[in-house]
Amino acid sequence: MKKLITTAAVMAIGAAIGLSSMAVQAKETTIDPAADREAFRNFFKKHLGDKIKLDDLKDGVYALDEDARSQWEEIEEFPPYEIELDKGEELWNKKFKNGKSFADCFGKDVSKIRAKYPYHDEKTDTIVTLEGDINKCLKDNGEKPFKWKKGKIADLSAYISYEGRGQKITTEPKTDKAKAWYDKGKKFFYAKRGQLNMACADCHVYNSNRRIRGDLLSPALGHVTHFPVFRSKWGNLGTLHRRYGGCNKQVRAKPFKAQSDEYKALEYFQYVMSNGMEFNGPGARK
Ligand code: HEC
Repeated sequence: MKKLITTAAVMAIGAAIGLSSMAVQAKETTIDPAADREAFRNFFKKHLGDKIKLDDLKDGVYALDEDARSQWEEIEEFPPYEIELDKGEELWNKKFKNGKSFADCFGKDVSKIRAKYPYHDEKTDTIVTLEGDINKCLKDNGEKPFKWKKGKIADLSAYISYEGRGQKITTEPKTDKAKAWYDKGKKFFYAKRGQLNMACADCHVYNSNRRIRGDLLSPALGHVTHFPVFRSKWGNLGTLHRRYGGCNKQVRAKPFKAQSDEYKALEYFQYVMSNGMEFNGPGARK
């Protein structure tokens, strides 16, 4: 919104002093992730008030609601994702048929993996996600890839996330190609869709900290710190793209496929917005 106002203001000034429309357009298409992030954080600071620390939003709605938070803290004492975490560790240690293992793809130090993702790869001009690289590793070693949204991929991703807790998100587009992916994700995030004609931002920015059908809406800042997530509703762990699909369906829009370019771009945008925040996955949610 702020950006729109700025653009409108620039155009008005441009018209007033007779700037060529080309110059105005160049200004309009500038992609500036750092400025966007600052505006995003400032919005939430104002919207949520002084009592809520932005960095606590890594805990989603539990940063907003004290009663829900204390229930959640009890749940986290015996985390519902514990069994899956153990399964993830077994997968990590298991040898492939060729004698190699995930450590041959990712490096031996599990705690260093989570914070490398997602990133933009300049050569292939795509967004590389943790889940994408898990399946790439399997394929490169002649193994069958995992299904994308739950099961083994979520178990292993949960183990890697757990070992990487406490590290900070560093995802940041630096090249023009990377910025184009970021911009694609940003447009997805702010685009109205589905029969309800609602954007991600309608629920998770402008109406965050308000209730919808009994659910408190989480702020989008910090959305990606804690995936995969164990949802009571699912009864198991699911990846971020599984959640994206669910949120698309909520507004009666057709979900995209997990690891589609649309969701990879959206993931990339969300990580850039939460750059600097702490990884604390896997999470537990309603
Ligand atoms: C109609 C409102 C609505 C829209 C639109 C919507 N969501 Fe959600 N979303 C929810 C609700 C309700 C929840 C569960 C409560 C919560 O954590 O916010 C949720 C949860 C989430 C979560 C999990 C938060 C956590 O802490 O684990 C993510 C991530 C998310 N949404 C992303 C998105 C994205 C990205 C879009 C756009 C594609 C989107 N949502 C669109 C209602 C919505």
